[in-house]
Amino acid sequence: MNEARIEVHRDPTEVTETLREDVREGLSARAKWLPSKWFYDARGSELFEHITRLPEYYPTRAERDILRAHAAEIAAVTGARTVVELGSGSSEKTRLLLDAFAAHGGLREFVPLDVSEAALSASAEATVADYVGLRVHGVVADFTEPLEFLPGTPPRMVVFLGSTIGNFPPDERAKFLASVRSVLADGEWFLLGTDLVKDAGTLVRAYDDAVGVTAAFNRNVLRVINDRLGADFDPEEFEHVARWDDRNEWIEMRLRACRDLTVSVPGADLTVTFVEGEELRTEISAKFRPEGVRAELAEAGFTLRHWWTDPAGLFGVSLAQVADGVIR
Ligand code: SAH
Ligand code: TRP
Repeated sequence: MNEARIEVHRDPTEVTETLREDVREGLSARAKWLPSKWFYDARGSELFEHITRLPEYYPTRAERDILRAHAAEIAAVTGARTVVELGSGSSEKTRLLLDAFAAHGGLREFVPLDVSEAALSASAEATVADYVGLRVHGVVADFTEPLEFLPGTPPRMVVFLGSTIGNFPPDERAKFLASVRSVLADGEWFLLGTDLVKDAGTLVRAYDDAVGVTAAFNRNVLRVINDRLGADFDPEEFEHVARWDDRNEWIEMRLRACRDLTVSVPGADLTVTFVEGEELRTEISAKFRPEGVRAELAEAGFTLRHWWTDPAGLFGVSLAQVADGVIR
């Protein structure tokens, strides 16, 4: 039996240490905030999968339609030997690419990478079982850390789907793109999914669904802090808020205290107070315009080779290549 190899680049003690620092910084700030990667423990990953199936959450369906329409072309154009997927989650849409590569031939290895060990091991085991002859080398790691260890035979294609790129603030986004660029050689590929600017109603509904799955996902970050740092957040004391910021063109996810609250976070030596109505920012999800995506890719040293959208123009997928002749 073929088995997935799983490499863990995250030491649980270090993870807790990083969370402690993030919590100390974010929850003692005047405008409270938390980095978004802390949503994704096993429960958070499950809730996210549920989000992808909600009627309001169009990005997954739109991106899947684009990948289905262009997977064969992507396989043919890139001739990749290795597909590396950052923030792979369930890798459900990536299967369309793996299918196309299987038909085209040449792909040897699939490298899913995610902070969520639960999501990673489930998807690595499922893909190794379903794609005979494909090496699956899962990596549990934080993609905001240096990526120079990325394995795989060239040419590689790094894929970053789900508009996860939009969850970085703009300056970190540029750093991230430069970091991906820096681990790739001339001629290698980057496939990027970006959700597009559209009417505010559609956007807000995608992040504030009728049955409250997104609200539960948002509150999950408080449970993660309870589990790892022994805090006593009552997630139900916080209301889910999703707001369109027209100036920055991003959705902001917040948790609003329903009343005055005092929360103790022993693992971070911290007591946090909230006044009624005070908001904690948990996530941004930036929305893009085609010319902006091209410019940001170019800035990082990529040349855009293809740009595809779904028929309704909701979502964009870019296929970019490391620009020839750029000195690294
Ligand atoms: N690619 C999937 C999942 C998107 S959700 C899709 O398109 O549906 C974002 C994924 O990125 C989650 O699986 C989450 O665990 C992972 N993630 C978030 N922050 C991360 C980080 N800093 N490093 C690695 N993975 C991260
Ligand atoms: N990458 C996803 C997005 O920005 C993440 C996401 C979807 C998300 N729904 C969410 C993050 C709700 C926080 C809350 O679309």
